[in-house]
Amino acid sequence: MRLSKEFRDQFIQHEMRTHGRKNGFVTTGQEARLLHWLPLIGLSKEKTLSDAAIPAGSPVVMEIGFGNGDFLVHLAQTHPDWTLVGVEIYLPGVAKAVGRLEDAGVIERTRITQLPAQYVLEHQVAAEQLDGLFVNHPDPWPKAKHHKRRIIQKDFAALMVSRLKPGGFIKLASDKPDLAEWMRDILDVTPGLKNVAGVGGFIERDEDRPETKFEQRGLRAGRISQFLHYVKC
Ligand SMILES: C[S@@+](CC[C@H](N)C(=O)[O-])C[C@H]1O[C@@H](n2cnc3c(N)ncnc32)[C@H](O)[C@@H]1O
Repeated sequence: MRLSKEFRDQFIQHEMRTHGRKNGFVTTGQEARLLHWLPLIGLSKEKTLSDAAIPAGSPVVMEIGFGNGDFLVHLAQTHPDWTLVGVEIYLPGVAKAVGRLEDAGVIERTRITQLPAQYVLEHQVAAEQLDGLFVNHPDPWPKAKHHKRRIIQKDFAALMVSRLKPGGFIKLASDKPDLAEWMRDILDVTPGLKNVAGVGGFIERDEDRPETKFEQRGLRAGRISQFLHYVKC
């Protein structure tokens, strides 16, 4: 089975500039699930979150760069009142997540997009529409000349804040100390945000938090992850 051009044009981004992998191998079974579910819960390029049939009163929480979707499944299972918006540019990750969300029986409470988070936040999410945002183990881009590719930048931080309701949260994790400090240093000075741990601080790991694939990878390499928690004031 091949995803049709029309389907790709609607749901699969191939023309937007992003750093990081976008396409890759998707099995026939995964394609079938994408074809079934994305027309129902996919946030296509023309839609905004306001068109996404979010139940009235449901808190809307986004995960940026959800990888294989395990953390999204955890959020949906532990917060049955939330609507989750998953944003991930790597198509095989989207395909895996759709399968996991369906198998867990929570997919109808999620909205999924393969568009880059920068585009989604700028064009598809309204001001003060989100109750929370998670960014778990974003790509570290370790070389100094690639630091500008890191997703947390001054402008992106301001964009995230503008999309959060007052009192909304941003939670981040990284197993790379240099990146964890980079994110903290940017977010600590972003107007409208308060570091729950105090300026310069990290929070303890939430006890009920599952280990994501990249947290596990860090642990196997001897790296203990660090966690950040901000609220919009
Ligand atoms: C290092 S992986 C971490 C995956 C997962 N969060 C975890 O903790 O295991 C970073 C993820 O962010 C995704 N990503 C990178 N840039 C992105 C962007 N601009 N918008 C959305 N996702 C992005 C990558 O495709 C990748 O899956």
